[in-house]
Amino acid sequence: MPFNTELTRALGIRVPVVQGGMQWVGYAEMASAVSNAGGLGLLTALTQPTPEDLRKEIRRCRTMTKSPFGVNLTLLPAMVPPDYAAYAQVIIDEGIKIVETAGNSPGPVIRQLKAAGTTILHKCTTIRHAQSAVKLGVDFLSIDGFECAGHVGEHDITNFILLSRARQTLSIPFIASGGFADGNGLAAALALGACGINMGTRFMATVEAPIHQNIKQAIVDAQETDTELVLRRWRNTSRLFANKVAKAAVAVERTSQTGKFEEVAEYVSGKRGRQVFINGDKDFGVWTAGQVMGLIHDIPTCKELLARIEREAVDALKKNLALYEPEGPVEKSKL
Ligand SMILES: Cc1cc2nc3c(=O)[nH]c(=O)nc-3n(C[C@H](O)[C@H](O)[C@H](O)COP(=O)(O)O)c2cc1C
Repeated sequence: MPFNTELTRALGIRVPVVQGGMQWVGYAEMASAVSNAGGLGLLTALTQPTPEDLRKEIRRCRTMTKSPFGVNLTLLPAMVPPDYAAYAQVIIDEGIKIVETAGNSPGPVIRQLKAAGTTILHKCTTIRHAQSAVKLGVDFLSIDGFECAGHVGEHDITNFILLSRARQTLSIPFIASGGFADGNGLAAALALGACGINMGTRFMATVEAPIHQNIKQAIVDAQETDTELVLRRWRNTSRLFANKVAKAAVAVERTSQTGKFEEVAEYVSGKRGRQVFINGDKDFGVWTAGQVMGLIHDIPTCKELLARIEREAVDALKKNLALYEPEGPVEKSKL
């Protein structure tokens, strides 16, 4: 039985599961596999060196799926920021209907995309940021709890609180992000008021994820305790896989007398992190992963994964309903 939530209705997808933007993972192979499996796949704009490369990647993805897919555009602090307006323009020109935005000061990009009629799913880690995004006119929020992989924010609020706060305070629909891997998680998110879930780490451990097999296996082998929070000192906290380099970065961060970012810069180099996914050496550099690794025990295809999530979620919802026995004169058949 297909789901019927604000998300599935707005996007025309079968299962209310989004594959979040993932730097150096969110290529056409990943996005098309998720969309073909009935979820929403997202290309990650900044895995492409230029806006023109993004245009090619969008076109390549179109040859791999007939189903809707979107693009993630992440706005992060950088010495020389990418030309976000040009990336957004390519997204508009190529007719992409849904964009996941994330990061700092998204106002200009959101306004540009909304003016073109794009549906915006904005990801954030606090209710305050969610409310600002609502004012900017976004259509959906993706509420990213402290469990999540990558930028966790600085307030450390886990999804049990954050999602209910979202339900109590937000005027637009939201999905739950961070810590999801299975159908019980989806059912729980729906019960807390979300209209779907967003997953990152779980999709890395799939057959189609375009990363080295050793890294998929490292995720399967890892526990929920195998992440490190890096760069807190600079208020840019990221949850990373707890390998030798991430641990060394944390040690420097904690003991540095100067507090200069240069002291850790080499450890957290994105270039070395990118190589990890290619050479399969999990200790070659830092890479992003979430606590949800503790719930990941296999490497299915995206199709198998989403079919299983659908089955498990429907099962969990039914079982929970059966926990309630109506009393009194009301006939069961009327409920
Ligand atoms: C390898 C990796 C790279 C990521 N890169 C980005 C990114 O570039 N932009 C972004 O908005 N989120 C990024 N994320 C976060 C995911 O989109 C998603 O919010 C997060 O993974 C959810 O937590 P989960 O891993 O527990 O499912 C990344 C996550 C992973 C695992």
